[in-house]
Amino acid sequence: MKKLVVSENEIQEVCKYLGRKISKDLAHESKPPLLLVVLKGAVNFAIDLSKNITIPVFMDYIQISSYSGRKSTGDIKLIHNLRFDIKDRVVLVVEDVIDTGVSMDYLIHHLYANYQPKKVLVCAMFDKINARKTTVRVDYAGKILTENDFLVGYGLDYNEFERNIPYVYIPTEEEIAHFDELSKK
Ligand code: IMP
Ligand code: MG
Repeated sequence: MKKLVVSENEIQEVCKYLGRKISKDLAHESKPPLLLVVLKGAVNFAIDLSKNITIPVFMDYIQISSYSGRKSTGDIKLIHNLRFDIKDRVVLVVEDVIDTGVSMDYLIHHLYANYQPKKVLVCAMFDKINARKTTVRVDYAGKILTENDFLVGYGLDYNEFERNIPYVYIPTEEEIAHFDELSKK
């Protein structure tokens, strides 16, 4: 039995709720907001969330990297930058999980420092509120987690494994060892 954290059903309910709320909150923007999806982890969440957003929005992608195995390296690299013009536009950064907050802090500064957005908002499927090393405001949190467990599934990976799984669980040591074995193939 997997150590389930969130079921597929619950994820879909969260996406419906957040989609409705975001649609309502951003309905009166003069420029269509941009959903800026953080690759690769937030792709699964962004797809389900976007289907529940009923106002005109654009989508673009940005990629940074800081994780290796089960640990954040804290050393952030911008791998793929956005292409969209966000001047005077609301940007909703869509992320899988806010953990230490270091990645999101970097992204928010990157956007404000370089592109003059009207406002940068943050939407994350998971918010590990007790893991912060820096202050980040999460405007839309799907599910607040008080434990700092390492999670996989629904975009979240262990060395690229398990992004495709439709629910989220805590991998056991045996499961991690199994992925380590598979990595060698
Ligand atoms: P932060 O910079 O520590 O907030 O980390 C954010 C990034 O680390 C997320 O976008 C994820 O890609 C990754 N991450 C954080 N927690 C987990 C986890 O439990 N499983 C897999 N990836 C995680
Ligand atoms: Mg991520």
